Amino acid sequence: MGKNVRHFIDLDDVPPETLKAILSHAHELKKQKFNPPQIFHGLSLAMVFDKRSTRTRMSFEIAMKQLGGHTVVMNMEEMQLGGSESIESTANVLSRYVDGIMLRMSDQAMMVELSKHTQIPVINGMTNESHPCQIMADMLTIEEKLGPIEGKKVAWFGDSNNVSNTFIQASKIFGFELVLALPEDLHGKVPAGADVTADAKAAAKDADVLVTDTWVSLGQEGKTIEKFQPYQVNADLMTTAKDNAIFMHCLPIHEWEEVSEEVAKSPASVIYDEAENRLHAQKAILAWCLEEAGVSVQDSFDFADE
Ligand code: CP
Repeated sequence: MGKNVRHFIDLDDVPPETLKAILSHAHELKKQKFNPPQIFHGLSLAMVFDKRSTRTRMSFEIAMKQLGGHTVVMNMEEMQLGGSESIESTANVLSRYVDGIMLRMSDQAMMVELSKHTQIPVINGMTNESHPCQIMADMLTIEEKLGPIEGKKVAWFGDSNNVSNTFIQASKIFGFELVLALPEDLHGKVPAGADVTADAKAAAKDADVLVTDTWVSLGQEGKTIEKFQPYQVNADLMTTAKDNAIFMHCLPIHEWEEVSEEVAKSPASVIYDEAENRLHAQKAILAWCLEEAGVSVQDSFDFADE
């Protein structure tokens, strides 16, 4: 691996000041959405998926193309990887064709292993452990709706999963309060140090943001969901939060399990802004990752802190 390769696999691997600079850049790139700077001219991104996707696939592809770059998309089952070809060989070969790789891959350890053999950045488009690109988009969304994220109260409801794990990391990096309301028997699944309760109303009290995710993630089909019912984000829970509280969900929603239709379609719901912000946040993530490949960003976004 080249010494200056900038991977974006886990929020905890990137310096906090760099993540804050990426977030600032995302705000700027969103302002330029009708006049996007062609900073990825001549650069290519490979996108590899082992699971379904709408937002990740579309937003990375459009992010690259709006800023002048190219994409190549493959499903893992179409590749030699997982068949006869090793991770190391695949990493070396892709490094000769493209300037970055975005992977949606269940196994984060496999993604990390691949990143050790590439000479180009690897970006995590979701694993079973984490979803850092989603959370950067969520930080952007909260800031544009409510102002600086620092000091805000975010309440998470339902199950503990890759998205809640990444919210926990983000709360320490960006300085917001995070409470997770989950069934008691799941508290042991939550990473140490997080604030967890079984009391949904206590979590929602005075919250600025209420967020949830599907109770049945990709690959968990058949899971029973009765115990999650008290954690549905509904109008009763929303009234416990601050008057201007917003509702967030990374999508897709399982209609209408983890959130009521009333809340998902209410003025407090920012789910489609959140989905749009995948595009802007990922432009900034790509710009940081690809800077070593020649991307020049504005002087005000000085990422050179590593
Ligand atoms: N939120 C999210 O990652 O959406 P997709 O699964 O559609 O990419």
